[in-house]
Amino acid sequence: MIETVKVAELIKDVKSTVINWRRYLHQHPELSFQEEDTSQFVYETLKSFEDLEVTRLTRTSVVARLVGKQPGRVLAMRADMDALPIKEENDFDFVSKNPGVMHACGHDGHTAMLLGAAKVLSQLKDQLQGEVRFIFQHAEELPPGGAVEMVNAGVLEGVDQVIGLHLASPFETGKIGVGYGPVSANCDVFDIAIRGKGGHSSQPNTAIDPVTISAQVVNNLQHIVSRNIATREKVVISVTQIHGGSARNIIPQTVKLSGTVRSFEQEIRKEIPALMERIIKGITEAHGASYDFEYEFGYDSVVNDHRLTQKLEEMIEDVFGQEFISKLEPGKMMGSEDFSAFSKVVPGCFLLVTAGNEKEGIVYPHHHPRFTIDEEALEHGVKLLVHAPFKLNSHV
Ligand code: NI
Repeated sequence: MIETVKVAELIKDVKSTVINWRRYLHQHPELSFQEEDTSQFVYETLKSFEDLEVTRLTRTSVVARLVGKQPGRVLAMRADMDALPIKEENDFDFVSKNPGVMHACGHDGHTAMLLGAAKVLSQLKDQLQGEVRFIFQHAEELPPGGAVEMVNAGVLEGVDQVIGLHLASPFETGKIGVGYGPVSANCDVFDIAIRGKGGHSSQPNTAIDPVTISAQVVNNLQHIVSRNIATREKVVISVTQIHGGSARNIIPQTVKLSGTVRSFEQEIRKEIPALMERIIKGITEAHGASYDFEYEFGYDSVVNDHRLTQKLEEMIEDVFGQEFISKLEPGKMMGSEDFSAFSKVVPGCFLLVTAGNEKEGIVYPHHHPRFTIDEEALEHGVKLLVHAPFKLNSHV
């Protein structure tokens, strides 16, 4: 068993460093697949800890292995590192120095927490069983995502279990969100082009108007969820972009629509493109127009492994106390995560670390220009990641 007092001290010691790392990363955000400086920073920081074997499997990701002195299993712990194309509107003194790019989802915090855990665990190597593999993943925000690339490059070779955390600003700091089964949705994307015949707005009879046809398509796509899919299933179809037209008095040639589809069941998911196409085809043909339809399957739903989640819940109860546990209702979270690329290969568990603080004004949702996190939550994440291998790596 580990000495709880010593571990608590090490976590306390690393707390301000983790906050500084997070602020440094927040100031220097980089977009998906472009995490050059971020990964270099992570690489150098990991190199400064003892006994870590640090490698780079892909251009902008970093992996570190810490092999304990005792035999045991291999636990992978993952943090994502990329930022978003958003212009930051916060006014604290560590705002983004990279115009138009912002850590608006908390990945700066994820990276800092995992670095903190690596630092603490490298000091506990003698007591550690098995191996901890620290995965600093690039490109979570941009499908096909960095996770699948790392899996293909062999990051999970020899790994028995994988865990990941996400900071969550909509909930007050002081909880760990634990969910069994599906904790994120399948997320797919589509593009539609409706091709009519342009003309003068005063003579619609000589044109084929893709604007009115598009309006019908958008409305009718909603019938899939309300009329074609069983009410117990959770599916969302959102048309989020409409582009077309150039002047008030011109009927355009083409209108383009795009959007996303979220679901949980793989069977239902597979049926959706055909249901959509039936509507698009029917409406456009009825009005003499034509269409292009492209549908791309994106990230799979993250499904937490029951046994692993149970063990982590026990651990959270021991280390944080029962009051820290917030049960997530399965199949209620419509967000998406490419952590599923890992958890499809080995048993995985994805947990939420709550990081909102209403009093401090930390209330903005993820991907908002004023998003930020309560930095107190970083310590909770570090604590969880430090204790996890001691709970999960023993063979018994
Ligand atoms: Ni995120």
